[in-house]
Amino acid sequence: MTATLIDGVALSKQLRTEVAQRAAALAPQGIKPGLAVILVGDNPASQVYVRNKVKACEDVGFHSVLEKYDAALTEAELLARVEALNADPAIHGILVQLPLPKHIDDHKVIEAISPLKDVDGFHVASAGALMVGETGFKACTPYGCMKMLESIGMKDLRGKHAVVIGRSNIVGKPMAMMLLQANATVTICHSGTADLAAMTRQADVVVAAVGKRNVLTADMIKPGAVVIDVGMNRNDEGKLCGDVDFDGLLPVAGYLTPVPGGVGPMTITMLLVNTMESAERAAA
Ligand code: GUN
Repeated sequence: MTATLIDGVALSKQLRTEVAQRAAALAPQGIKPGLAVILVGDNPASQVYVRNKVKACEDVGFHSVLEKYDAALTEAELLARVEALNADPAIHGILVQLPLPKHIDDHKVIEAISPLKDVDGFHVASAGALMVGETGFKACTPYGCMKMLESIGMKDLRGKHAVVIGRSNIVGKPMAMMLLQANATVTICHSGTADLAAMTRQADVVVAAVGKRNVLTADMIKPGAVVIDVGMNRNDEGKLCGDVDFDGLLPVAGYLTPVPGGVGPMTITMLLVNTMESAERAAA
């Protein structure tokens, strides 16, 4: 058996086409979905990420604003920018690229974003809404993972055991909540888990979101399991790789997401979906 790959590029293309159609449908009302992206400092990885986000907006016909600031920007200045964007009717989504310089409190800045424009889904109100099943923006990476599961006919996970490796606020925790909402039985594993393999061997679905190579190897999964790899690491040759032993898992897993070309493009796609939804809510 060889695992079927879940192609995040192809799925993104399909979803982005749908978003572009929805954006075009709002045009007669004079509404163009608008995303503001704020970048503080010159982190090279962040520069690439924000460029990709702005480019993705242009491709689907959104209005996008990229605000770049010197690393010396004060927290008060940044908070004032967020406030101004909260009040700007042309902006439906606000994204402050993380990490921020050390002198700025990430948490304070994220909490300053209006939950109505929190398209990253990082605000406590968004996390809380997910927890209690209310309307709010879902964090883009786990939301993209759910879309990938949906694409292989796994929208309802009743009777399935899902194991999430990692407990970050950005991926692990919201991922577990979304899987739970899809009726899965969910286990969250992390650095304090005594026997990770004993957990993952029971799983029908494994989501690896640790940020470390080879956290999941072939001997650790049930044959036919669905493996979603959220990791983005570099191997010894400097090549991009995920958290799982891709080559080792290939003959054992049922479905597998590649890195690159798996979850990565889905994250930006779901940012577009969230921004689209925000614009539609504003239009309603
Ligand atoms: N830094 C790395 N990934 C992300 C993301 O998805 N959103 C934001 N705001 N910052 C990030």
